[in-house]
Amino acid sequence: MTGFSKFMAAVGLVAATTAVPSGQAPAAAPVKPVTFTKDVAPILQRSCQNCHRPDQVGPMSLMSYEDARPYARSIKAKTTARLMPPWHIERNIGIQKFKDDPSLTDDEVATIAAWVDQGAPKGDVKDMPAPRKFDDDDIWHIGKPDLIVEIPQNHVVPAAGPDVFIDYIADSGLTEDRYVQAVETKPGPGARTVMHHLLTYLIQDVDDGEKLVGIDDVRAGSTETFLNEYAVGKNGDILPEGTGKLMKAGAKVRFNIHYHSSGRETADRSRVALKFYPKGYKPKYHQISLQIAHADNQLDLPAGVVSRSDGYYRFDKPVHVTAIQAHMHNLGKRMCLEAILPTNTTLQLNCMGWDFNWHKVYNYADDVSPLLPAGTVLHSILWHDNTKANRANPDPRNWRGYGQRTIDEMAFAWITWSNLDEADFKAMVAERQKRNSN
Ligand code: HEC
Repeated sequence: MTGFSKFMAAVGLVAATTAVPSGQAPAAAPVKPVTFTKDVAPILQRSCQNCHRPDQVGPMSLMSYEDARPYARSIKAKTTARLMPPWHIERNIGIQKFKDDPSLTDDEVATIAAWVDQGAPKGDVKDMPAPRKFDDDDIWHIGKPDLIVEIPQNHVVPAAGPDVFIDYIADSGLTEDRYVQAVETKPGPGARTVMHHLLTYLIQDVDDGEKLVGIDDVRAGSTETFLNEYAVGKNGDILPEGTGKLMKAGAKVRFNIHYHSSGRETADRSRVALKFYPKGYKPKYHQISLQIAHADNQLDLPAGVVSRSDGYYRFDKPVHVTAIQAHMHNLGKRMCLEAILPTNTTLQLNCMGWDFNWHKVYNYADDVSPLLPAGTVLHSILWHDNTKANRANPDPRNWRGYGQRTIDEMAFAWITWSNLDEADFKAMVAERQKRNSN
């Protein structure tokens, strides 16, 4: 539980006890019967079964009553503490609409708790919803890929050994130029346990005439374009309409991998899946995805305390921010992001908890993704917990600072955005205002 949710739980507790005047029994609220088949199964289908079914990351299946019943108490505990499903956006601050948000409403959490408190009854089988269909394609969160590129050979990670940083370059086999619309990178089947991180880049020569707006702002003169990142529990990137990445015939893909031995010899065949825009469609903007607002170089994390660090990044053009993510290591606790506008007003974007097991990208819903004017400064505020209370802390007796190894720390925001021209920016802002005033 994060310190914040502990605090909220404590507040909740106080409110609940003071609500009942002393010496008086609480009025018995009418109990609404809650059953698995009618009330709980639909929640599990929507928010849990993606991971909790055979051969997925979840440690047990939650497909049927018989699967779920033995875990009833644990299910109540994890959902009430909002540890499951993994989704760490704080619900009381900032923007609240995201794509593919599996998190539970307060009512759903209460329904699960009531079900468990009532003895976790099954209910009438006739109430059971039709099973949710998962096919193999569903393993890719971006939908059915048009192209999958793999590293050229299996990489075998020994049971024990130092961390390995390695680059593999693979031919994409693409025979015509296409624009990337969605991308997802991940380790080969069974290799999640050895993967610390995995980044993919496109290597290709792009002529000036072919460039999408925005690309030069980021990597002038480079033949490489960042594609996507995998980290434990991460989903994928779906690019907003009108934004893409050119992938040319014959392009190569560079896989930058950090392996971490897990105690068992493991073979990996990492891969990246790509979905393209229809042939003939050319997006206008290049999608930028960068690690920015770094606080890395000032990380100073004394033993036994929670430390705050701040990072800043100035957007020189008007921008459309479509996804946010934090990056820290084991001591990471929380990140907040705010936009300091050129008028010096501050716009709260979001706060999110951090758990090293779950590197999640949060994709804003289209009607709320921030549109920020040129000159906006993104401010990241990051907290690291170097105390004993942080159960992920490998050694609370020692100072820590920035470094590449898993036991070192990092602190930055990973932001996906496109740089807009002034005319498009104004038009998008006007359209947004019109829609919101209706
Ligand atoms: C993105 C994948 C994912 C989703 C979605 C997800 N889980 Fe999990 N769940 C996991 C993984 C991985 C673990 C084991 C590691 C951990 O506890 O973080 C886990 C652990 C659990 C546990 C602890 C198991 C035990 O041994 O007691 C429970 C209970 C649980 N999940 C319930 C749920 C419920 C209920 C939902 C939906 C409301 C859900 N999970 C959604 C991946 C997921």
